[in-house]
Amino acid sequence: MTGARAAMQERVAELDAAHAQAVAGGGEKYVARHHARGRLLPRERIELLLDEGSAFLELSPLAGWGSDFAVGASVVTGIGVVEGVQCLITAHDPTVRGGASNPWTLRKIFRANQIAAENDLPLISLVESAGADLPTQKEIFIPGGRLFRDLTRASARRQPTIAVVFGSSTAGGAYVPGLSDHTVMVKGAAQVFLAGPPLVKMATGEDADEEALGGAEMHARVSGLADHLAEDEHDAIRIARRIVARLGREHCAAPEPATSTEYAEPEVDPETLLDVVPVDLREPFDPREVVRRVVDGPGPGNEVAFDEFKALYGTSLVTGWARLHGHPIGILANAQGVLFSEEAQKATQFIQLANSSRTPLLFLHNTTGFMVGERYEQGGIIKHGSAMINAVANSTVPHLSVLVGASYGAGNYGMNGRAFDPRFLFSWPSAKSAVMGPAQLAGVLSIVARAGAEARGQDYDEAADAAMRAMVEQQIEEQSLPFVLSGMVYDDGVIDPRDTRTVLGICLSVIALAPDPDAGSFGVFRM
Ligand code: COA
Repeated sequence: MTGARAAMQERVAELDAAHAQAVAGGGEKYVARHHARGRLLPRERIELLLDEGSAFLELSPLAGWGSDFAVGASVVTGIGVVEGVQCLITAHDPTVRGGASNPWTLRKIFRANQIAAENDLPLISLVESAGADLPTQKEIFIPGGRLFRDLTRASARRQPTIAVVFGSSTAGGAYVPGLSDHTVMVKGAAQVFLAGPPLVKMATGEDADEEALGGAEMHARVSGLADHLAEDEHDAIRIARRIVARLGREHCAAPEPATSTEYAEPEVDPETLLDVVPVDLREPFDPREVVRRVVDGPGPGNEVAFDEFKALYGTSLVTGWARLHGHPIGILANAQGVLFSEEAQKATQFIQLANSSRTPLLFLHNTTGFMVGERYEQGGIIKHGSAMINAVANSTVPHLSVLVGASYGAGNYGMNGRAFDPRFLFSWPSAKSAVMGPAQLAGVLSIVARAGAEARGQDYDEAADAAMRAMVEQQIEEQSLPFVLSGMVYDDGVIDPRDTRTVLGICLSVIALAPDPDAGSFGVFRM
């Protein structure tokens, strides 16, 4: 076994453990209580909803990691196929604080809604939530209005919205069925009201009965909020599937899983991706070795797996054309980490070419940023880097990003980091991202502090400096790690490197069904 493999396997084991935490929801006690009430868990509901044997691309499973809230942020989100149609599904996890929404839940659902909007996916909400997490209400009440806005704007865009209510759906939660195109409620279980009996008592003095106030039967027969009354959870899921079948989305039906005759498997087994990237990012690696294990191998209509563009120019960025699950893509992959003027110019030209041919782009990150120093400043690194960022920001073809290794400084921006709205962004367990590397950042602080002491005519405390540097280095190292960044919903998930091809294949099939955006135009390029 290579050293790289052993180290990466260790990271993958940590990733599996973090995912297991998310799947465990509120823990054994609350899961057992939920099952004893005859109710299904969110992932069980999703599994029943999806077409048999189809894949589910879970998004942001580590949201909330490292915070005071449970890993997963009390909601499951992802993309799956229902009645042949790719849909964005969100499902509250009622075993975690009653499924209440905390600040991370909001971020996770906002991101899911953004993905649905950009890719024209129907939204299915599987609802059972105690509404706002009351102790953190100040962080969620004002931004939380966006949930209402997103749902109604989706409907206005003719992006169908379906709410299936399995349990409590109070206050803010009540507006999920209120604002959805289609609603299903489970008899004897769904309870949808603006205010539950205690709040009604406080507000008006009325003694209200829960079923009369917001039960499924009442909403189906009296208020009309429920379009369908389901006998039980299975019946509710059956009805939801029938609704999807009648949405008239045949034009964007998910493709049948492509057979190997349509495209060839990669030249090199993706299993060996664990061998390619050293966990110590100071060790260089050739990104072509990643590409060869991710893209389609040579086959009919794809004689060469990877056609490189400008292979001899700006060699610390590899660019070229390939196919993935039969979908054409352009790839930009960092090689030796640093981006020089040549690399920036090459990237800018390549992005323009992809826009011209309407080819989606894949960015494989391993960059420490743009080159600094007198020679490079005089060579125009700022204007060349700006041109690359301009090209990325205004490119209108769909972008996918995978943080394979380092993603530092403006290199993160030029390579289409999160702020540049790639359609999907995933990280490998080896990824690291920050404004700069930990040692560099601590060193900069030290130099600035030393200069300050000198200017004041004071002696510099070397021991305190060493301690400060060690502390800052450790802090930045921790903050740069993929679980932390994924916890903050700065990516769509940390993935096992071996799953990269499958994950990107699902993303490309989602993208392929959405309308191609207008070509648009670029900003002024500074020459
Ligand atoms: N915010 C934060 N924590 C909440 C919460 C909320 N909105 N609602 C419930 N919780 C907590 C409970 O305190 C409990 O914690 P504990 O187990 O540590 O004591 C845990 O979540 C489970 O709640 P519990 O009431 O035991 O679950 P349940 O399944 O029997 O009932 C509800 C679920 C949703 C019916 C019930 O919790 C409830 O009515 N919550 C308040 C709903 C509300 O009015 N929300 C206001 C929205 S703006």
